[in-house]
Amino acid sequence: MAKLVAPSLLSANFLNLSHDIGMINRSEADWFHIDVMDGVFVPNISFGLPVIKHIKKEAQKPLDVHLMIVQPERYIDAFRNAGADWLSVHIEASTHLHRTLDAIRKSGMKAGVVLNPHTSITLLEDIICDTDLVLLMSVNPGFGGQAFIENTYSKIKLLKDLILKRNSNALIEIDGGVDDTNAAKLYNAGADILVAGNYIFTAPKPEEAIKKLKRL
Ligand code: DX5
Ligand code: ZN
Repeated sequence: MAKLVAPSLLSANFLNLSHDIGMINRSEADWFHIDVMDGVFVPNISFGLPVIKHIKKEAQKPLDVHLMIVQPERYIDAFRNAGADWLSVHIEASTHLHRTLDAIRKSGMKAGVVLNPHTSITLLEDIICDTDLVLLMSVNPGFGGQAFIENTYSKIKLLKDLILKRNSNALIEIDGGVDDTNAAKLYNAGADILVAGNYIFTAPKPEEAIKKLKRL
């Protein structure tokens, strides 16, 4: 089981992204988690392609791009060109999910499926072997700093069972409300990657907070 940490730049200082990118480069973090919101799929708007292109110039670790947008299939090439290494789309926003995942992989990126807290793991039964990653939202998407939803643990266990039953290679990523009180339990339940924004960027020493998540 992998034990990766992906700091979410949503909680970074947008006036000095370079500083926070440098901190993540130096830290024990594994990926950059990049949250893209369109104000339609979620009630918030974050940042888009031009900002990601600049992040890519300085980031020395893979970009894990989480699209919270409608019709994500329209932007696959654009995000590849901006520098995404992993591209994840919401199942709730994808009418033709199989085609979208296939297109993401064909464009040279790893493909991920994201589930909102209310979305059942059973919906993954016929797609689990066609995805490299499943991202389970442990808050309702749209904002950083929200409280972790406890039902996530049982979803991780159901997802892990499905992955093993189908011999899938999909990784399990958890996003929302992750901190030092739940990280160990999430890894133990079967999570491979933990996203954390608020916990890392409000810490007095963000690099230490990352180290703590990795060592729990
Ligand atoms: C929420 C985003 C998350 C968010 C997590 O819609 O997908 O990635 O940044 O932030 P925290 O760790 O603050 O809950
Ligand atoms: Zn996210």
